[in-house]
Amino acid sequence: MSYYKILNLEHYFKMYKKSVREPRKFWDKIAEENFTWYQKWEKVFEFNFSEASFKWFVDAKVNITKNCIDRHLARRGDKTAIIFEPNNPDEEALHISYNELYDRVARMANVLREQGIQKGDRVCIYLPMIPELAVATLACARIGAVHSVVFAGFSASAVAARINDCECKMVITSDGSYRGNKSIDLKGIVDEALEKTPCVEKVLVVKRTNTEVTMKDGRDFWLQPLLDAAIPNNVAEVMDAEDPLFILYTSGSTGKPKGMVHTTAGYMVYTAYTFKNVFAYEENDIFWCTADIGWITGHSYILYGPLLNGATTVIFEGVPSYPDFSRFWEVIEKHKITQFYTAPTAIRSLAKESLDYVQRFPLKSLKVIGSVGEPINEEAWHWYNDHVGGKRCPLVDTWWQTETGGIMISPVPFVTPTKPTYASLPLPGIQPVLMDELRNEIEGNQVTGSLCIKFPWPSIARTIWGDHQRYKETYFTAFPGKYFTGDGALRDEVGYYRITGRVDDVIIVSGHNLGTAPIEDAINEHPAIAESAIVGFPHDVKGNALYGFVILKEIGETRNQDNLAIEINQIISNQIGPIAKLDKIQFVSNLPKTRSGKIMRRILRKIAEGDFSNFGDTSTLLNPEIVDEIKNGRV
Ligand code: PRX
Repeated sequence: MSYYKILNLEHYFKMYKKSVREPRKFWDKIAEENFTWYQKWEKVFEFNFSEASFKWFVDAKVNITKNCIDRHLARRGDKTAIIFEPNNPDEEALHISYNELYDRVARMANVLREQGIQKGDRVCIYLPMIPELAVATLACARIGAVHSVVFAGFSASAVAARINDCECKMVITSDGSYRGNKSIDLKGIVDEALEKTPCVEKVLVVKRTNTEVTMKDGRDFWLQPLLDAAIPNNVAEVMDAEDPLFILYTSGSTGKPKGMVHTTAGYMVYTAYTFKNVFAYEENDIFWCTADIGWITGHSYILYGPLLNGATTVIFEGVPSYPDFSRFWEVIEKHKITQFYTAPTAIRSLAKESLDYVQRFPLKSLKVIGSVGEPINEEAWHWYNDHVGGKRCPLVDTWWQTETGGIMISPVPFVTPTKPTYASLPLPGIQPVLMDELRNEIEGNQVTGSLCIKFPWPSIARTIWGDHQRYKETYFTAFPGKYFTGDGALRDEVGYYRITGRVDDVIIVSGHNLGTAPIEDAINEHPAIAESAIVGFPHDVKGNALYGFVILKEIGETRNQDNLAIEINQIISNQIGPIAKLDKIQFVSNLPKTRSGKIMRRILRKIAEGDFSNFGDTSTLLNPEIVDEIKNGRV
């Protein structure tokens, strides 16, 4: 019987039950039959929730890139591994075969070694969506260096903070990047970041935009000549199952980003398994995920998941609106994409434009369409399902997180009937539960609660880099013995899950997680500002937008508030990145605070949403009179 591929609904239920009753046997079979190992495991897993300790495929030895590349060469050497679709549609797309990918990754791996990178060293990759991003990432994994890919939209300070947190020895970047009709000076941003990062010894620079850049002697090197001189062969490093594969930063409820650590074997097994099933992947499919490799979606479903299955995966450098709003649909048609995976915010922004943009293309190659990153609202779901999926392609609404490594709750196409706005059922191996405020598990259906997972799965993040205590506190203390996701969810009458959104201080704006604390910290650095509070409010395209309530130091500050608002957004842009800018800023004389000094955000959220109907219990407020003032001054 097939364990790797879910065949139909009955088989799904059978596999699900098996994964719960006999998790060791279930994962043992999948890991044994579908990967190449240097050495098998002693135990499938061991864990301890109270210590937040998880180990999978204990003592196994493996290299993920051997599984992504080498083992396909005999049968699929000439098959396209990566299609690179450039920002400008007039530039030719590139098809990189598995043989060529091997050559490129081997050379890059050798360059990294020659430049002093060893197993366990951290390498920061700050690149646009070009093939070198995939190659550099895989080359790190090849030699056992831990990659820390930083999304190339982050500012210099954000890059510096991430580099310093995990003490990267090297940065791999490019002269610049293209995004629509703009180009961005990436090397300049890196130079600025590196003023504050003593740990970085070398910088390798890819030429992409031919922008003039400053190269620091002895530190900065153009990559291409090094690659040309390198040997196109490389023996993959033997990695322990639990050796770290990568660090990926995500926002949290304090100012410091959390470096989520993923390890090798469990991540490999789980991303491969979920890619195969959630996208109903078959040998000749052409898979396109529009995320950036700088986010977990790109790590797991542009790179690792597809390559582990020997698939053809697309790297798209551009944006959905350039040269016009038909760009996505044109690319689907051009490359005959079979699975298309994107975010609700992109769907909402394209659904606002003329239908003609999408209707011009038959999109007959599509088989499965997917959504990820935030709740997909009913209207966007139907637009996507009807106009892109032609009501014939299953729409998989996939719920998961940076911390989970892979997709957790999702329909399996052609197996699980879809229901608008529902992520539907957990994948085999995943045991979700809803918890009430008293930390009791809520049984039965048609209920809502805090979403937790009560049994480990192979790709659960293992720790926060350098701060295991924070990892424990963030995910394992609110509901002892369980992993707390930070999301709220509802379970319908048949057991389908619908994710309702974050229940903590993280706001998802255009699919990007933004912690309120880092934004508030940035604003509070402005010399005229005493304090601030950020909340989210619903936005047609972004899902949520940010509303800032700001207290000035000097009551009656005479400076123009419009100018101050511009300065506030400038600081946020510099400290975090343009994605975190505020849509609305209201200057207030105070914030609603409890007697213990906590800001009552619930009230601010209601005001930002324009819902003045019921502020709930305000009796614990120290300054209840402030509520009216803020309400009347809403912008
Ligand atoms: O709130 C959930 C939301 O995105 C959060 C995770 O964000 P991140 O770590 O950036 O990973 C995004 C890509 C996996 C979750 O806690 N989220 C993700 N997918 C969905 C979702 N909310 C609703 N429906 C989804 N399908």
